[in-house]
Amino acid sequence: MLLKLEEVSKAFKGLMAVHAVSAEVHEGEILGLIGPNGAGKTTLFNLITGVYPPTEGRVFFEEKDITKVAPHARCWMGIARTFQLVRPFPELSVLDNAAMGRVYGRDPIKSRSRAETACLESLEIVGLTGRASEKAKSLTLVDRKRLELARALAAKPKLLLLDELLAGLNPSEVLTSMQLIKSIRDMGITIIMVEHLVKAVFGVADRIVVLNAGELIAEGTPAEVSSDQNVIDAYLGKSLRV
Ligand SMILES: Nc1ncnc2c1ncn2[C@@H]1O[C@H](COP(=O)(O)OP(=O)(O)O)[C@@H](O)[C@H]1O
Ligand SMILES: [Mg+2]
Repeated sequence: MLLKLEEVSKAFKGLMAVHAVSAEVHEGEILGLIGPNGAGKTTLFNLITGVYPPTEGRVFFEEKDITKVAPHARCWMGIARTFQLVRPFPELSVLDNAAMGRVYGRDPIKSRSRAETACLESLEIVGLTGRASEKAKSLTLVDRKRLELARALAAKPKLLLLDELLAGLNPSEVLTSMQLIKSIRDMGITIIMVEHLVKAVFGVADRIVVLNAGELIAEGTPAEVSSDQNVIDAYLGKSLRV
């Protein structure tokens, strides 16, 4: 097991954003994390990456208790993420933005020029090689999202957390990105993806975890979760009922 959450909670001044969530993530899987706005999905990512310590509970990565490990050290251990709101350094080149991942990630390379060379492969994977020398601010949304992914990949993660990577993309960009996510998993990287596009996440994920109001209300295969009455009532609504 790669990641284990043991009864993790996070309270913000009385608001239980995440409440006693226990879950396991297996090596090599794509786990979809879904739920309504405000369900606690991003907060759970913040607990996994160490942005906040949990109010209660423990986080294990490769069997090690990382509950109190700082975010940068979790990155060295192999946990990388993309952010829901992508904010590359606008005046830096695409290559320099991606190289950040190589400098601060697992097996970090401190030399800038060597880090740049080493992250070219990540740009290649996401299809940004041709834009390497452009400033990040000149990129379209879909390309900024690709850059966000390239930076995370350059950190050589074992576990990659994707926060709404598909949001705002058009249908053909969504399809391409779904293929890309599968190919990243095929490289041996375990993925947790938060996504509102239910059809897309059900199309790529091996397993789904559903959060509602901070609580884990269901987990299982896409087929199991989509026929779960609690999930239909809380999130999926009537549209997915067959
Ligand atoms: N830093 C914070 N301070 C206070 N409240 C927060 C903070 N981050 C998230 N919340 C609250 O926690 C709840 C869960 O938020 P979030 O994890 O962003 O949900 P999701 O990503 O599922 O939409 C929301 O009610 C949100 O307003
Ligand atoms: Mg969110």
